Amino acid sequence: MEKQQLAGVAVDRIEKVFGEHPEYRRAHARGVIYEAIFSANGLAKEYTTAPHLQGGEIKAVARFSHSSPDPTWTDIMSPVKGLAVQFQLPEGEITNIVGVNSPIFLAKTPEAFTKILGIVTSFKRGKPRLRELAKLLIQYPESRAAIKVIKKMHAPASFATGRYHSIHAFYFIDQEGKRIPIKYEWEPDAGMETLSPKDAGSLPFGYYEWEIEDRLQKEPVSFRLNIVLGEEGDPTADPTIAWPKDRRKVTIGQLTLTQLAERADSLKFDPTVVTEGIECSEDQILNFRRAAYSISHERRNSEK
Ligand code: HEM
Repeated sequence: MEKQQLAGVAVDRIEKVFGEHPEYRRAHARGVIYEAIFSANGLAKEYTTAPHLQGGEIKAVARFSHSSPDPTWTDIMSPVKGLAVQFQLPEGEITNIVGVNSPIFLAKTPEAFTKILGIVTSFKRGKPRLRELAKLLIQYPESRAAIKVIKKMHAPASFATGRYHSIHAFYFIDQEGKRIPIKYEWEPDAGMETLSPKDAGSLPFGYYEWEIEDRLQKEPVSFRLNIVLGEEGDPTADPTIAWPKDRRKVTIGQLTLTQLAERADSLKFDPTVVTEGIECSEDQILNFRRAAYSISHERRNSEK
C-alpha cells in the first residue's frame, strides 16, 4: 500500500480504537500551547549549519500534550506526555522537534503500527485487553521494549518535569557537509520529577494544564536542548531500539516559556519539517508521520 493511503488507514484505525473526537488531533488530543524563546548557546555550530542553532535567540511555540487520542481520558490514563516545539525562523520558515517522555516507540514500520491497531481494538481505562497484548507481543516482538518502558513508567509530576525524547535519529550536516547522526532530548531545568501511583490516582482532570500555568506565574519554566551523538553502529532507522546510555550529550540551547499562546491550536507539528543543516534519518516511522499528521490536521481543521 502506498504511504499516503496507509496513513489514512492508520488514522482511521486510531479513530476506531479510541473513538471519533471532532476538532481534536487524532493523537495527543488534549494539550496546551505556549509561546517561548529559544536561546542557542553556539555549541551546535561544530555539528550543523542550522540557522537557529548557531547562537542567539529566536521565537518558538511549545505544545505539551497527553498522548491519548481520546481527550476525555484523565491526565493519568496517559503516562506518556508530549512536547512539540516549533522554532520560528526568519521569513516565515519553521523547523520542528517533537518529543515524548519515552526513549523508544513500539513499532518499527508503518505497516506494523497499523496492524498493531488492528490487534488492539479497544482500551479499557487506558489499558488494552491482556489477550490482545499477548498476541501483539508474539507477532511484533520488537514492541516488547517500548511496552516494558510504558508499563514501568511513572507519569511526570508536571509537564515541566518530564524529559522528552525525539526517539528518531536525525542527521546534522556540518560546514564540510559531513552527516552526523543525533537524537534530541529536552531536559527539564526544574529537574525530573515523577508521581507515585498513589498521588497520580488523586489528580483531577486537566491538572497538568492548570499546574504548568500556575508554575509559570511563580517561576521560569525552561528546558535544555541536548543532542545525543550517535556512534558507528548505532541504529538510525529503528525507533524500537535505544542508543547506548553512555553516548556523548551536548547541551546546545535552552527553551523558556513566556505565555499561553492564543488561537494556536490549528498548528501542525510535523517532525519531518526541518531546516537546512538538518536531515531526517531513514527511519520509516519518522517519514510516515508526515502523511499521518497532514491527514489528522486536515480532518480536525475541516471540522471547525
Ligand atoms: C506510526 C507512527 C505514528 C503515527 C501514525 C502518529 C500519529 C499522530 C497523529 C495523527 C497526531 C496528530 C497530528 C495533528 O493533528 O497535528 C500525532 C501527534 C503527536 N505525536 Fe504521533 N504518531 C506516530 C508516532 C509518534 C512518535 C514516534 C512520537 C514520538 C516522538 C510521536 C509523538 C507525537 C506528539 C508529541 C504529538 C502531538 C503533537 C502536537 O502537539 O501537535 N508520535 N501523532
